[in-house]
Amino acid sequence: MRKLWILIVILVSGMVVQAQEPGSAGIGDPYYPTLGNGGYDALSYALDLDVDMENNVISGSSTMEAEATEDLSSFHLDFIGFEIESIEVNGEAAAYLRNGRELSITPEAALEDGESFTVVVAYTGEPNEDLSQQSALYSSGWVRYKDGVFVASEPAGAARWFPVNDHPRDKALYSFRITVPEPYVVAANGLLQDVIINADDTTTYVWSSEYVMASYLATVNIGDFVVQTDEGPDGLLIRNYFPSRLTEDAEEVFAPTADMIEYFSSIFGPYPFEAYGVVVADLPLFFALETQTLSLFGAEMIPGALTDILSGWQSPESVIAHELSHQWFGDSVTPENWEDIWLNEGFASYASALWLEHSAGEAVFENVMRQYYAQIEGRNYTPGDPGPNRLFGQGIYPQGAWTLHALRMEVGDETFFEILRTYYERYQYSNASTADFIQVAEEVSGQDLTDFFDAWLFDGGAPSVPSWGLGIDDEED
Ligand code: TRP
Ligand code: ZN
Repeated sequence: MRKLWILIVILVSGMVVQAQEPGSAGIGDPYYPTLGNGGYDALSYALDLDVDMENNVISGSSTMEAEATEDLSSFHLDFIGFEIESIEVNGEAAAYLRNGRELSITPEAALEDGESFTVVVAYTGEPNEDLSQQSALYSSGWVRYKDGVFVASEPAGAARWFPVNDHPRDKALYSFRITVPEPYVVAANGLLQDVIINADDTTTYVWSSEYVMASYLATVNIGDFVVQTDEGPDGLLIRNYFPSRLTEDAEEVFAPTADMIEYFSSIFGPYPFEAYGVVVADLPLFFALETQTLSLFGAEMIPGALTDILSGWQSPESVIAHELSHQWFGDSVTPENWEDIWLNEGFASYASALWLEHSAGEAVFENVMRQYYAQIEGRNYTPGDPGPNRLFGQGIYPQGAWTLHALRMEVGDETFFEILRTYYERYQYSNASTADFIQVAEEVSGQDLTDFFDAWLFDGGAPSVPSWGLGIDDEED
């Protein structure tokens, strides 16, 4: 009898062990099933990296603190390239397997739902060494250029420089210890906490932020930067990292930043983070990225910086306003899934038009909106469901901006700005979906806006707009 009981206990405990299953290889993004991972919530990442600038090799470790959200026999991280030296979970060596961007880790002891755990991955190698794993769609992450390094990872290039739950829905805290040879300077997200001069002619820069961040917004920039500081509203620290040869001109170009923060704070709500600023990489980028607390720009922003490049890009001021406004919409309120990207880019495109309306007047604003309309007229865009290959196209930027402007005309200025403030306040430091925004708009306006949002976001095509938006002169003036 006793033996039978022991047998039953063994069988039952065997079943319990079997109930611990592998965490899924994707977080559940409808467009990209393998982005992010399931079964846990990343709480923080501490990156401790040594950068060999000559050979473009980074080596060090990433420490992730996480909490299991189900019983786990194994779990995934996203990580591309590099040589893994070791992986420890809760201080014990863990087994792992790699397959493309999926890194599957089996800890010595299974993890229980609700359990906190620590993963340390030690690694070394050249970022993006294996170009066959390149995909423009997923972004390049860490990029070495002649004078330094920048990191731009939207939507999913963070996995190209550290092991990560690479999806905006799993925000976490970040800290960075980046060691570079003299005389390089490192700028990353948050506040510079420490600068340690080492015996071997290297310097360690310690950066961290006390606010959660999506992985695509994490950045490390290395260059011969000079820091220029300014003060925003309520004493907010503004610190800009400019290439030394461009400092004076760059300072002039970015001078409106403090006024822009003041204006956006007045219409959206208080600036969300402990500091703001920009970093300018000394090469032509022709893109900019709203990396949290420290937006990234290329040298084309500075007139005369690039002698061999014909300019003709957007006005620097509108791009500066665009990236700044993302700190509210994109960084603080972050898309739930990538299909919600118009909540970033439509908002930022409209915010830069709002800045011009405020600072330059109605005629300039109307001109910008007219240009936006010209890019969507006669097309069949669906910003609410752009498809996985069209996250950053015209169906998102100008049609997203026009969706907001049309909403403003539909509900009136007062209600419109109340909608923006309510939406921002409700979802700050968190994630929101298109349905969440529509819900706030209907709640605040008291109107059923189903047909309105269907027409602008889902049905395809641009609804008609006022005659000035079409470039036709109004009779009245
Ligand atoms: N979010 C950027 C903007 O402000 C555009 C962007 C999308 C980007 N993916 C990127 C920039 C990758 C740099 C790298 O509009
Ligand atoms: Zn943008």
